[in-house]
Amino acid sequence: MTTSNKITGDNNRVIIFDTTLRDGEQSPGASMNLEEKLQIASLLEEMGVDVIEAGFPIASNGDFEAVNEIAKRVKNSVVAGLARAGQKDIERAAEALKPAARARIHTFISTSPLHMKYKLRMEPDDVHQAVVDSVTHARRFTDDVEWSCEDGSRTEHDFMCRCVESAIKAGARTINVPDTVGYTVPEEYAALIEMLLNRVPNIDKAILSVHCHNDLGLAVANSLAAVSAGARQVECTVNGLGERAGNAAMEEIVMALRTRNDVMPFETGIDTTMITRASKLVSAITGFAVQPNKAIVGANAFAHESGIHQDGMLKNAQTYEIMTPESVGLNKSNIVMGKHSGRNAFRTKLKELGFELGDNALNDAFNRFKDLADKKKTVFDEDIVALVDDEMTRANDHIRFVSLQVACGSKGPQTAALELTVEGAPLSATCEGNGPVDAAFNAIRALFPHEAKLQLYQVHAVTEGTDAQAKVTVRLEEQGKTVNGQSADSDTIVASVKAYIHALNKLLTKREKRAPEALSA
Ligand code: KIV
Ligand code: ZN
Repeated sequence: MTTSNKITGDNNRVIIFDTTLRDGEQSPGASMNLEEKLQIASLLEEMGVDVIEAGFPIASNGDFEAVNEIAKRVKNSVVAGLARAGQKDIERAAEALKPAARARIHTFISTSPLHMKYKLRMEPDDVHQAVVDSVTHARRFTDDVEWSCEDGSRTEHDFMCRCVESAIKAGARTINVPDTVGYTVPEEYAALIEMLLNRVPNIDKAILSVHCHNDLGLAVANSLAAVSAGARQVECTVNGLGERAGNAAMEEIVMALRTRNDVMPFETGIDTTMITRASKLVSAITGFAVQPNKAIVGANAFAHESGIHQDGMLKNAQTYEIMTPESVGLNKSNIVMGKHSGRNAFRTKLKELGFELGDNALNDAFNRFKDLADKKKTVFDEDIVALVDDEMTRANDHIRFVSLQVACGSKGPQTAALELTVEGAPLSATCEGNGPVDAAFNAIRALFPHEAKLQLYQVHAVTEGTDAQAKVTVRLEEQGKTVNGQSADSDTIVASVKAYIHALNKLLTKREKRAPEALSA
């Protein structure tokens, strides 16, 4: 494959554009609240992401607020807001991005025959005019404008060249060619990038970008082929989160470029040792578990089970390991935590795991750690991460868990006696159900009646062993809005109730924002 990089001369730096907060959040059930988006944005900035696509400001007030808050806080990364080709979209994005140190408006329109005819119901000439108008309008607000031809991989080449040339003439600095439906294959996509580099006369005035969806499992391969062909920005998400089968996974792109630098001599600005933390944070917030055999961040990605492999690893790690666990932030820690560990060791361990808590939060987390260490022989790093994740999301809760007692087993009936506080007032109820979880959830509904529908109930063991903590995700839906609640506890039913309450608290926060008086159930 030839690497005709007319864009950046011999600059082999690949810009990492993370769209976890926009395309990632578009995957059904992955909605995040403001606090969670800020947490992710801050981690993305810290790990060296060049561009953070923070949302789609015209889509909702929540999206506007998230882009606006992220724009206020992020200083080192460019903050991007998405906008369709219309003036209102672009003005809303510009307004949300106003406080940003470095703002990018990312405007798009479909250019494939199928999308123009059936989705837009527009003639190609009108689409072309919209490209010129939208980029020109966006440039009134910022120098940094990105233009995307949605469904680019199914767009006719002549029309694409015409639109790209005009977008650059109108002031776009980045031209993004999405494989919106995950249809292309590496050779074809690389050829498309080369075609643009060879045919668009002013292409040297822009960075070519790629944005691949994973419908055929080729998003990462397609993105890398495009980089080898001359693209210098990759749009991707943490854990490959995104519409349908997701987007190209950032951790895979970054580690492939780093590990196979011999055949892909390109650099990114990402601190790869933060990859594991980012993956865990996004998984914890969205409730989207990472499959154990997922490349780079799966629980088994660095586990060697077979005797032959273990033997080879002991003799020389490189026999079966192409990258070190440490390079993605999986530290083999020297501090083993147990019931004799003190506050100082706990604080040091938290630091090692990437958490800095204030004194009160540290005390609460330490007390919970001590409780856990009493119940569990070995407290693993994963246990501590689950515990602190739990602690960090509970600060402003209206509903709080107090206690739970369940009766279950084959003789029935299964019952749950639950104590909660709602705005500080103690409440208790005992309910039956079809199993202990059902009984416990019925008790929550009895104490705090609500119409929200349970969309997902998911349990994972945080570590191995029968004394492992259970990490539970509960997804609730109310008036088309979904929220995810999570909790971890060595008692699965307690974790389930806490996760449900976490989701309810998030719903209440959403309701408060809609109408302050709607706080009651
Ligand atoms: O997949 C896609 O085409 C997109 C664009 C809005 C960039 O997400
Ligand atoms: Zn997309």
